[in-house]
Amino acid sequence: MTGPQDSGVQRLREGEALPEWVSRLDRTAFGVAWKAPAEHEAVWVIPEVAFARWAVVPAAGEAELLRIAVDPAHREGGLGRVLLEACQGDLEGQGMNHLFLEVRPSNAAAIRLYRTCGWEPCGQRSGYYPDGEDAALFRWSKS
Ligand SMILES: CC(C)(COP(=O)(O)OP(=O)(O)OC[C@H]1O[C@@H](n2cnc3c(N)ncnc32)[C@H](O)[C@@H]1OP(=O)(O)O)[C@@H](O)C(=O)NCCC(=O)NCCS
Repeated sequence: MTGPQDSGVQRLREGEALPEWVSRLDRTAFGVAWKAPAEHEAVWVIPEVAFARWAVVPAAGEAELLRIAVDPAHREGGLGRVLLEACQGDLEGQGMNHLFLEVRPSNAAAIRLYRTCGWEPCGQRSGYYPDGEDAALFRWSKS
């Protein structure tokens, strides 16, 4: 893993196995754990506590936040913000100046996190989720 040690955030190296605790947290937060990251994906972690998984498109200078989760016992303590800001800083440093994500409008905690980190709504996808809920689209751009 690599990354700024002071914030506790680290980026998994390309090809590095997904730690078991990430899969556990993935299941806890989303019901299903995703498999090992594909080549175009990148994962940042606060070890044992939080992860964020992104799809990165260097040719377009864009990245999409696929999943972010903090262990339930550590939520509402600022770690989501620390992790997301670290990801944004790293991605911006690599020339990803336009970041995107989709989120359930009912996910108040996530929406508060995104807004607090400078993301803005940019659209919606009707009936996007399997249960029929729309997806709210957010973007963050380098200022
Ligand atoms: C969304 C999530 C990552 C937030 O992590 P967190 O560590 O609790 O977030 P933080 O403590 O850094 O809080 C960030 C902001 O969100 C707010 N917030 C956090 N949880 C909240 C809640 N349950 N309700 C309302 N606001 C909330 C905080 O007050 C803070 O806002 P502020 O800066 O205005 O004070 C976490 O709730 C989580 O893992 N949820 C399950 C997975 C998920 O839904 N991920 C998003 C979709 S991919």
